Amino acid sequence: MPCGRTNTRADKGRWRVSSNESLANLLKEERRFTPPETLAASANVTAQAYEQAAADRLGFWAEQARRLSWATEPQQTLDWLNAPFAKWFADGELNVAYNCVDRHVEAGLGDRVALHFEGEPGDTRTVTYAELKDEVSRAANALTELGVRAGDRVAVYLPMIPEAVIAMLACARIGAPHSVVFGGFSADAVASRIQDADAKIVITADGGWRRGKPSALKPAIDEAVASCPQVEHVLVVRRTGQDVAWDESHDVWWHEVTERQSTEHEPQAFNAEHPLFILYTSGTTGKPKGILHTSGGYLTQAAFTHHAVFDLKPETDVYWCTADIGWVTGHSYIVYGPLANGATQVLYEGTPDTPHQGRFWEIVQKYGVSILYTAPTAIRTFMKWGDEIPAKFDLSSLRVLGSVGEPINPEAWMWYRRNIGGDRCPIVDTWWQTETGAMMISPLPGVTATKPGSAQTPLPGIAATVVDDEGREVPDGAGGYLVLTEPWPSMLRTIWGDDQRYVDTYWSRFQGRYFAGDGAKKDDDGDIWLLGRVDDVMLVSGHNISTTEVESALVSHPKVAEAAVVGAADATTGQAIVAFVILRGSAQDSDELTAELRDHVAKALGPIAKPKRVLTVAELPKTRSGKIMRRLLRDVAENRELGDVTTLTDSTVMDLIQTKLPTAS
Ligand code: WT7
Repeated sequence: MPCGRTNTRADKGRWRVSSNESLANLLKEERRFTPPETLAASANVTAQAYEQAAADRLGFWAEQARRLSWATEPQQTLDWLNAPFAKWFADGELNVAYNCVDRHVEAGLGDRVALHFEGEPGDTRTVTYAELKDEVSRAANALTELGVRAGDRVAVYLPMIPEAVIAMLACARIGAPHSVVFGGFSADAVASRIQDADAKIVITADGGWRRGKPSALKPAIDEAVASCPQVEHVLVVRRTGQDVAWDESHDVWWHEVTERQSTEHEPQAFNAEHPLFILYTSGTTGKPKGILHTSGGYLTQAAFTHHAVFDLKPETDVYWCTADIGWVTGHSYIVYGPLANGATQVLYEGTPDTPHQGRFWEIVQKYGVSILYTAPTAIRTFMKWGDEIPAKFDLSSLRVLGSVGEPINPEAWMWYRRNIGGDRCPIVDTWWQTETGAMMISPLPGVTATKPGSAQTPLPGIAATVVDDEGREVPDGAGGYLVLTEPWPSMLRTIWGDDQRYVDTYWSRFQGRYFAGDGAKKDDDGDIWLLGRVDDVMLVSGHNISTTEVESALVSHPKVAEAAVVGAADATTGQAIVAFVILRGSAQDSDELTAELRDHVAKALGPIAKPKRVLTVAELPKTRSGKIMRRLLRDVAENRELGDVTTLTDSTVMDLIQTKLPTAS
């Protein structure tokens, strides 16, 4: 079987099914991990949910919508008459913030901890649901006093502090869609997002704590608002106490304006299709896309998936999602899903290595975290730091582990299971996107026999498959493009201000189906393996080879912690595979080792996948959400001037890498 038969290159004629049988073993993963018996016996969702949803998909979602408290119960489920513009629960009315906060207090759970906040410097704050209700109400009153009305957009540029959650919920409460911009983005990036969304208020902070130091946020906003005349007020949370420039004409301290407000605020019900937020995805090219999510369907799927995929028991679990609130993971699995479910969670401000590389595990131990949701990039970093670091902490409270953001290499998955999950916790590898709003493909911890590296099965109520270039569903064992074949409640409704781009980007490649932009394959059991963005597929001597698979082969070598693979133009083979690897802890770079790594890949995947060059590096270029920027590595490997580096976490990484490669192939 060929590997990733995905290709987006213009000359489709080059795309063909490889006949190279040496690739037949690609990711033949034999390991299986059945759910722990106790978990399976008390799981929130059982195998029956798949049957129920298959028999009546819309009925299934209508039932899930009843997890929420509606001011007007919806009678309609899906309106798809104007496809691909969907309406879910369109005649229902609800208040999202009421669902995330007030109803738990009304149910007598006001004393339950909503947030265990852990600041990077070690300061802590506990916020109960009753306190959250007061804070959100105050903030909603403050925004109203500042002139924000339902439908107005509010930009949020904050560190990972309780006020970020409070600000988002306050916006939701008054029906003002928020546009959260990740705190690491530059003034220009913020300005273009404020302009595109036409936000009239910005909520920011003096700064946040980052790697042991206060890191300023307000200067970027000062610079951004200079080119955004529509911004009427900038609300500033005091977090670090650092000096800030102050413009009396629009700057307002958050504490001054919220403290004088009442803790009473009557939540108004909004239509299920009322916009809840806009979140910009960078995309690899072009102007960022403002992904629009609405209220009822989004909250239904965020709440259901959080309940089902993490098997959340709100009375006893302590949940921790390590994502930043600036990404969709933070929206759906820090704010909306967990709070709609009444969860108790950890909110951590800082980096995993401040003040030491065991910080995450110290937090798990301190709060007794039972469900942990993190990203492969973090897991591979922990592998690099060494097994002995998590081993120093008591991680026995953990019971379910999640992964999101990229394909997780099988060896990283195994490392996570062994070193963090004590060989007992199921791992849920959750595939979804900013656009999907909530999880789409994932194992269920009490049902699925998991396979390292595979997201496996569409969740109940979700329809996904893999198709070839002509849009035909591929048989088990073959690869192609991942598509979603039915609308789902938390789907994006459009690209803000650009309906045509919404249709063109997602619904035009394959008639009537949503094109996710990911390569995927089905294994012999029909389980789905994600192979990375289709733009990253390599074409070597006429064979399509997925970067993910070569990277996973490299990471399966005991001395490799992390790998990024690109196809560089090659006179003989069209593209040649160039691998950039980070070695684990004590491993030393040598010619013998690089030769060994090349052979290791050839053995695992077949000679066609053997990298032409293997370069050891100290760091890889990553976006601020942790994704490897292969585009830049391709520039290096092809001796080109670097493309846009503005979304890199650390642009000096590229300087270091370039010195490794004075004369690229
Ligand atoms: C892209 C979406 C989902 C929230 C964070 C990222 C990749 C995400 C997985 C996974 C393989 C994954 C895909 C997807 N991706 N999760 N479990 N396995 N790939 O949201 O920034 O919108 O990125 O992330 O390529 O298309 P995003």
